Amino acid sequence: MPQKPNPAPAPPRSNLLIRAATASDLDLIRALLEGEGLPTSDLEAVRPGFLLACAGTRIAGAGALERYGEAALLRSLVVAAAWRGRGLGHRLVKSLERQARAAGVRTLVLLTQTAQEFFARLDYGVIAREQAPAAVRSSSEFRSLCPASAVCMAKSLR
Ligand SMILES: CC(C)(COP(=O)(O)OP(=O)(O)OC[C@H]1O[C@@H](n2cnc3c(N)ncnc32)[C@H](O)[C@@H]1OP(=O)(O)O)[C@@H](O)C(=O)NCCC(=O)NCCS
Repeated sequence: MPQKPNPAPAPPRSNLLIRAATASDLDLIRALLEGEGLPTSDLEAVRPGFLLACAGTRIAGAGALERYGEAALLRSLVVAAAWRGRGLGHRLVKSLERQARAAGVRTLVLLTQTAQEFFARLDYGVIAREQAPAAVRSSSEFRSLCPASAVCMAKSLR
């Protein structure tokens, strides 16, 4: 039986650069999200602002903000399998929070089917979907892309 090649070991964390994504990153971002079953069909229409964690030319992780006035949807958080469990998910969320705060966002809202405990440790609390700001509820994630079973969570940045 042919041997599967070992995945390349993840380089040291210090080699990671967090930067804003550009249009040319979109195909790689989409592939990363689709690999985890996360929604991508609205990316071109909505154009959420992505931050990427990059190791050279490779994307180790991504996460995005979709702005709605003083609130924003934190969405599309993903860390490539080889990089998990090394603090990158936390680092991406903290970077997105800093960016949101600096832009005057007061509340972050998210929907998750898989990572409730992960976000709880970052001080996100569960809320009813109806409690989310109306503008956020108008997003495609809320209206159609995330199933009703997804948990809604929010954090005040004040
Ligand atoms: C969720 C995710 C972004 C976390 O990334 P990460 O880089 O592994 O996270 P960190 O290293 O910063 O944090 C790791 C800690 O969070 C916990 N954790 C990671 N993923 C978790 C999950 N899905 N649910 C609960 N806890 C989780 C780990 O057990 C670990 O805990 P420890 O510190 O006690 O060992 C990553 O697992 C992922 O991309 N998952 C698939 C996509 C996904 O579900 N995204 C969320 C969409 S809302």
